[in-house]
Parts: sequence; structure tokens; C-alpha cells
Amino acid sequence: MAIAVTSLTQRPSWKALSEHYQKVKDLHLRTLFAEDNQRGKRFALDAAGIYFDYSKNRLTDETIRLLLDLANSSGLRERIDAMFRGDKINVTEQRAVLHVALRAPKDQSIVVDGENVVPAVHAVLDKMANFSNRVRSGAWTGYTGKRIRSIVNIGIGGSDLGPYMAYDALKHYSDRDLTCRFVSNIDGTDFVEATHDLDPAETLFVISSKTFTTLETLTNARSARDWCVKALGSEDAVAKHFVAVSTNEKEVAKFGIDTANMFEFWDWVGGRYSYDSAIGLSLMIAIGPEQFHEMLAGFHEIDEHFRTAPFERNLPVLLGLIGIWYNNFFGAETVAILPYDQYLGRLPSYLQQLDMESNGKHVDLEGNTVNYQTGPIIWGQPGTNGQHAFYQLIHQGTKLIPADFIGFNHSLNPIGRHHDLLMANFFAQTEALAFGKTSQEVAADGVPAFQVPHRTFEGNHPTNTILFERLTPNTLGKIIALYEHKVFVQGTIWNINSFDQWGVELGKVLANRIIPELESAEAPKLSHDSSTNTLIQRYRAARGK
Ligand code: F6P
Repeated sequence: MAIAVTSLTQRPSWKALSEHYQKVKDLHLRTLFAEDNQRGKRFALDAAGIYFDYSKNRLTDETIRLLLDLANSSGLRERIDAMFRGDKINVTEQRAVLHVALRAPKDQSIVVDGENVVPAVHAVLDKMANFSNRVRSGAWTGYTGKRIRSIVNIGIGGSDLGPYMAYDALKHYSDRDLTCRFVSNIDGTDFVEATHDLDPAETLFVISSKTFTTLETLTNARSARDWCVKALGSEDAVAKHFVAVSTNEKEVAKFGIDTANMFEFWDWVGGRYSYDSAIGLSLMIAIGPEQFHEMLAGFHEIDEHFRTAPFERNLPVLLGLIGIWYNNFFGAETVAILPYDQYLGRLPSYLQQLDMESNGKHVDLEGNTVNYQTGPIIWGQPGTNGQHAFYQLIHQGTKLIPADFIGFNHSLNPIGRHHDLLMANFFAQTEALAFGKTSQEVAADGVPAFQVPHRTFEGNHPTNTILFERLTPNTLGKIIALYEHKVFVQGTIWNINSFDQWGVELGKVLANRIIPELESAEAPKLSHDSSTNTLIQRYRAARGK
């Protein structure tokens, strides 16, 4: 663990990769496949219910060997053990990083500060299950005695993206008599549009905030309380229509939610790693406790795979290392996440926070500025929609964009030929990206000469194919754990703290300074730069101040 990683680029394993890159950077996937007719099978892994085909990447056996050396020389094994042991690897906040404890079976023991945290995790899961069942059965009613029909989760970042993504992903398994909505933006439109057709007497608000101090969430929660109290005519309604999910009992009580209706989690769960904690309460109400536990089992299966599988057959390790190969040696700046499943429409947004908030860091664990690239830009959209929007640039633009294609053998909505057509597009895209179409092939099709360059596909665009049987709660848990640990692998190699997020603080502080300047009747001091001062003045003038 105590490897001086400011010297990452000076390490023999890094230098070996740099030299190797010079040798293989121009190798074409056409050649690699032509030279090895088993490549599609050799560079693939069937483990933990996931088929991972990484053959359509610009790498050789030697690349993998060198990347594995890099992982070993980065102390990856020790870091994995340290995380699972509950060591305080989030050094800047002096916290353990134990999202893996959220899906640990009851009989496992994970000790933080002398206490086994697994019983507390299961106690909260039981409390969530009990509450979810009461809402789902109608035993829990609103203030007027009406059954709860709508759940509105109010949260932002990790307290929104996870439950929202997972609710969409698992809609097929949800109780269709319940409406679930998610409000995150401080823009009042979000709250108004989410609630405009809801009956306050039938609506339950789940206020989700790790800190319970987040401006957006508390502002939306206050508006929700006003909306509810105004409609139901009494402050007493709050107890029946509001529950909280938080680590901060004091602030929950201060807000006016009975702490008996609070679902706890802990400072060793990062916000972006939290949707399998109580932050998933709205999801559990929607899909029921059994399905939620199925999802946790999927997470746990990948945790165990990650903890125990040798690195050369370890899915998150390989996914992470391949990412490093493009990010740090090919200079790729982004990674596209392309799920071929409509239910996974919010997966790219979710992974954006997971990856970019975790690994968007410019100093290493010792506080030294790094002299290498860290986290990539994550983006994407479900296929096939993306094909008709941005794939053009991936195929024929000037940038190298590695992409993860995620798909399923079986559809949850098997109508007509849809699924075969969907998956034909999936396979066709990874084939086209890898092999392209040469100018000779284009000309041989009889294409007029002036069009040939425009219709030529260079190919050699790398993709990972990640295939599952079908989208289930269990599968979703696997997908998320896979990416959580991929982020961990990369953060370890870059020697950065993937578990803090100081980069979001400055904007929050400055916004708090500007709020009174927009709201006060008196002219503000105008203590900002000339651009910000002018913007504030113009805004105030437009608002009649
Ligand atoms: O602003 C970033 C952040 O701190 C995220 O890391 C977190 O997921 C989000 O805000 C919400 O925080 P909280 O759950 O404390 O309201």
C-alpha cells in the first residue's frame, strides 16, 4: 500500500506499458483477429453470470500481462483486502469504505472501530422491509386514512441517481399500483411537475440525504411539507407522509420528521455507493423486499468474485485495466456506456456520478499533483437510440472513444421480433466499430470515387461487450458492483482517493454567498469579479430590485 505513486509513471511496469504501447498502437483489430481465430473466445470471460468479451480491444496477451503487472505493482491486492477489512482507506475523511458491508450476508463479520457492522445493516434492512410491506399492503395509511399510492423520493446526487436509475431499471418488477417519482433539482419545476397530478392524502415523501444539510434536498423537502400541510390542513400530517433516510439523526429531528420514521445508514457508505443502503427505500417500496434482497445478492456475488478471483480472471480488474490502457496510454478522454435495454436508460447518468465524482481527482493520496490522467468522462445513452445520434462520431470522428456495450439474451418484453433486432444492432455495432470497412471494400461496392473516403470506416474502435441472461434485480446488482469495483481498481492504480468529493464544495459555498445578494432588498456590495457582479445586477434588475 505504501507505494510512492507520484512515481507511477516512473515505475518499471508503467514504463514497460509505455514502450509496449509504441509497438502496438497501430495494430488493427482486423489483424489481431486474422492472426488468431480463437481471439473472440480467448479474450472473454464467463464468470458470476456475466459474459465479458474484451477481444475487440486494441490489446494483445502481452498488454494484459503488463497491465496485470501494473495492478500488482500498485498494491491492488492489499487495497482490496484493506477495503473489505474496513480499514479507513478514505484517508482525507478518515472513514472506512464499506458499501460491500451493505450486501454482506447476516453471518459475515466486518468490524469498524471495534464493532461488527453487519447486524446493524440487517436491522435497517428489516426495518425497511417492514415499512415497505406496510406501505405496499395498505397497512400504512396517510393522515386521512387513505392508502398510499405515490412515493416521492427527494434527494440529489447519490441520494437520487441510484434509486431513480434502479427504479427505472427494475420497473418490470415493481408494483404498478404505486407511482414513484424522484425530485432532485432545486429548480422548483422539478417538484411542481413531479407532484402536479398527485393527491397529497395518498403521497409519501422519502427525504433522502446522507448529511441532511444539502440545500437542494432541504429546499424541496420544505416545499413538500408546505404542499402536504396546506392540503391536509395540519402539521400532524407530516408524521404520516414523511420519512427520512439519513446518517444525521439530529438534522432529521430538526426538520420535524419523527426519528422513529428515519432509516439509518453510516458514514462508511459514500453517497454514490449508497443506493443499496436505506437510500434504496423508495426502490424497496416499489419492488418489494424480496426483490431488493435478490439485488443485494447480485452485488454480493460480484463482491466475492472481485475479492477472490485471480486478477487475470477478475471482471472488475480487467474492466478497470482496459480503461487505464486507453485513458493513460492511448490518451482517450471519455468512455461511452451503451446499454441495449430501455430499462437501463438512466445507467449512464448513474455511472457518471459513480465514476466522475470518485476518480475526478488531480492529487494523489499524499496530496501531490499527479502527472498522469485520472478519471475519464463518462457518458452514453441506450442503444439503439444513440446509433441515430452520436455513433457517427464514434465511427468516423477523430476521437478515440472506448465503449461498453451492455445487453441481455432475453427481453423482459418479448414482443414480435424486437429483441432479435435490438441485439442484431448491438452485435453489428461492435463488429462495425472494430473492423470498419476499407476504401477498397467501399469502392468494390460500386460507390462513386468522390464518395469513397466519406463512406470508409477505419474501424479499430475498441469495445467491451458485457452480456447477461436477462435484466433482473440480481443482474442489476451485478452490473453496479462491477462498475463500483472497476472505479476502485482505477483509483488504486492512480493512487487517488476515490471516496471523497471536495470538488463540489466551492460551488456550494459561493452559492450560499450569492443567495442573500439575490434576495435582499438592499443593493449588494458587489464583491465579486466584474462578470459575476454584472450578472447579479442584471438578474436583480430583471426581478425589479
Ligand atoms: O454534492 C455532492 C454530494 O455530496 C454527493 O456526493 C452526494 O451524493 C450528494 O451531494 C447528496 O448529498 P446528501 O445525500 O448528503 O444530501
